[in-house]
Amino acid sequence: MAHATVHGAPMTRPCPRPSAPLIVFLVLLASCYLALTRLPSAAPLAALIAPSAGHGSGHGAVDSCAGFYRGAGAAGRRAVTASVEEFGAVGDGVTSNTAAFRRAVAALEERGAGGGARLEVPAGRWLTGSFNLTSRFTLFLHHGAVILGSQDPEEWPLIAPLPSYGRGRERLGPRHISLIHGQDLNDVVITGSNGTIDGQGRMWWELWWNRTLNHTRGHLIELVNSTNVLISNVTLRNSPFWTVHPVYCRNVVIKDLTILAPLNAPNTDGIDPDSSSEVCIEDCYIESGDDLVAVKSGWDQYGISVGKPSSNIIIQRVSGTTPTCSGVGFGSEMSGGISNVLVRDLHIWNSASAVRLKTDVGRGGYITNITIANVTMEKVKVPIRFSRGSDDHSDDKYDRTALPMISDIHIVDIVGVDVQRAPMLEAVHGAVYEGICFRNVSLTAIRRQIRWQCESVYGEAHEVFPAPCEELRNNGSSSSWCGLP
Ligand SMILES: *[C@@H]1O[C@H](CO)[C@@H](O)[C@H](O)[C@H]1NC(C)=O
Ligand SMILES: *[C@@H]1O[C@H](CO)[C@@H](O)[C@H](O)[C@H]1NC(C)=O
Ligand SMILES: *[C@@H]1O[C@H](CO)[C@@H](O)[C@H](O)[C@H]1NC(C)=O
Ligand SMILES: *[C@@H]1O[C@H](CO)[C@@H](O)[C@H](O)[C@H]1NC(C)=O
Ligand SMILES: *[C@@H]1O[C@H](CO)[C@@H](O)[C@H](O)[C@H]1NC(C)=O
Ligand SMILES: *[C@@H]1O[C@H](CO)[C@@H](O)[C@H](O)[C@H]1NC(C)=O
Ligand SMILES: *[C@@H]1O[C@H](CO)[C@@H](O)[C@H](O)[C@H]1NC(C)=O
Ligand SMILES: *[C@@H]1O[C@H](CO)[C@@H](O)[C@H](O)[C@H]1NC(C)=O
Ligand SMILES: *[C@@H]1O[C@H](CO)[C@@H](O)[C@H](O)[C@H]1NC(C)=O
Ligand SMILES: *[C@@H]1O[C@H](CO)[C@@H](O)[C@H](O)[C@H]1NC(C)=O
Repeated sequence: MAHATVHGAPMTRPCPRPSAPLIVFLVLLASCYLALTRLPSAAPLAALIAPSAGHGSGHGAVDSCAGFYRGAGAAGRRAVTASVEEFGAVGDGVTSNTAAFRRAVAALEERGAGGGARLEVPAGRWLTGSFNLTSRFTLFLHHGAVILGSQDPEEWPLIAPLPSYGRGRERLGPRHISLIHGQDLNDVVITGSNGTIDGQGRMWWELWWNRTLNHTRGHLIELVNSTNVLISNVTLRNSPFWTVHPVYCRNVVIKDLTILAPLNAPNTDGIDPDSSSEVCIEDCYIESGDDLVAVKSGWDQYGISVGKPSSNIIIQRVSGTTPTCSGVGFGSEMSGGISNVLVRDLHIWNSASAVRLKTDVGRGGYITNITIANVTMEKVKVPIRFSRGSDDHSDDKYDRTALPMISDIHIVDIVGVDVQRAPMLEAVHGAVYEGICFRNVSLTAIRRQIRWQCESVYGEAHEVFPAPCEELRNNGSSSSWCGLP
């Protein structure tokens, strides 16, 4: 594949565009399938989930993983509360409030010492450049509050690249800081009554499209090396780049979010847990121009040498659409390893893939002990996909012998209607993927290719339609690892 270059730096590619408009031959009512119910199989992470009073599953209580957040701010309790207006902010949509937000956080950090603080953003349109959060801190957006990202790139100053990437993801050297940023923190909450954080990312997408971007775009929200992070009950719009990026974090809960970006906005991933553990993502609606959720852990030799995995992650009740990318992606940056991930109750439509594993030669690392259960999809091109990378490397010093190790992937209770083809499972050249289990998979109204395409991928398949590839046929050997419960 072509290796596009600007200023000597490889560019991150948005997912490939659809080659042709989708043609509908037959639509089976998804509701027929949704009406069927069955408790998900015993999940590896089930023990970590505390049942909580929930809503709308038809089973009464819904499991929540929100207990991963162990800070004091869940119920909004903090010793000190103040409004950003007290620090001179003006919610007129044109006044820059960068200094006001920075003053507010600094003042509350001092005043709330010990008991923590809560900064309220009332209804209004609050234009700001980047500001940092602090520990034991809650940013609360009232109904009607809109934080707007500055249109001046200098209000998104440059910071050092992440060690596990070795450079900015898109351009060499430093990268623009995120709009809302935090580093080395403990107990940070961003929540509200569905207020909005709007990155106004179009300016950045245009710099990307017209190839005049000098430095890697900023995220909407990034937390680095932080523990006990809770992001809930807000709407996030128009991120310049990946929307929510917890990296080197532990005990992260991201729930009840609406994340929106135009479906062609480049690299506007929804939520990207990266080299992070004990992460809970639940009850989110996401539509964007890239993966709704992408689990990552660093890039090539930089990710290998930092060696921080992503593990113990639960992703549940996420729904949405991304026409050129996937519902839940693993990688392609996964060089620190990814393990112990449970993905369940996904609903994905009009998308390129529901679930995709992306790796490459030079990545090293591993993806193992992954369970994907109860996925419903409509009008998806390649329902499940394991793909090779597209020669997307940090630089040319990557280790060509560093192959990713992929094993123990369980994909169960999958219903897809009106999909374009059967799964495509291709290992990276030179690697063999083992322990791949498919159980109870029904893909109907397939429009183009009913043959599974498998290459160097081995395991078993039970109760799978259409018939799986030879590499996954149960050939009479012991199948307790992939059998019925
Ligand atoms: C915000 O935090 C980053 C990373 O710790 C730091 O480089 C930057 O100077 C901070 N910005 C402000 C305004 O304090
Ligand atoms: C991560 O943050 C903690 C403080 O919470 C700090 O002690 C530690 O040095 C930080 N680690 C790195 C690699 O910066
Ligand atoms: C957050 O959203 C959930 C689900 O919609 C709701 O139950 C909860 O009350 C909300 N919390 C706040 C503080 O609005
Ligand atoms: C929050 O706001 C978004 C955008 O307006 C809306 O789509 C979503 O339904 C709202 N969420 C709740 C829980 O009201
Ligand atoms: C590229 O996009 C930016 C942001 O919209 C704009 O300011 C700039 O004029 C554009 N440059 C070119 C060469 O089109
Ligand atoms: C990119 O760099 C050029 C040349 O230094 C400069 O003119 C331009 O303003 C920069 N663009 C941004 C968005 O910072
Ligand atoms: C898979 O993940 C679960 C949950 O973290 C863990 O209990 C189990 O030991 C893991 N299995 C293997 C083979 O590592
Ligand atoms: C499967 O996921 C859907 C959401 O896509 C949810 O409504 C349904 O309750 C789940 N089924 C089971 C058995 O949990
Ligand atoms: C197969 O999976 C679907 C979707 O989750 C579910 O509704 C159905 O009950 C499952 N069937 C069996 C036999 O487990
Ligand atoms: C079943 O397939 C596996 C993997 O291809 C192979 O290693 C094993 O020998 C086969 N067992 C039988 C009984 O054919």
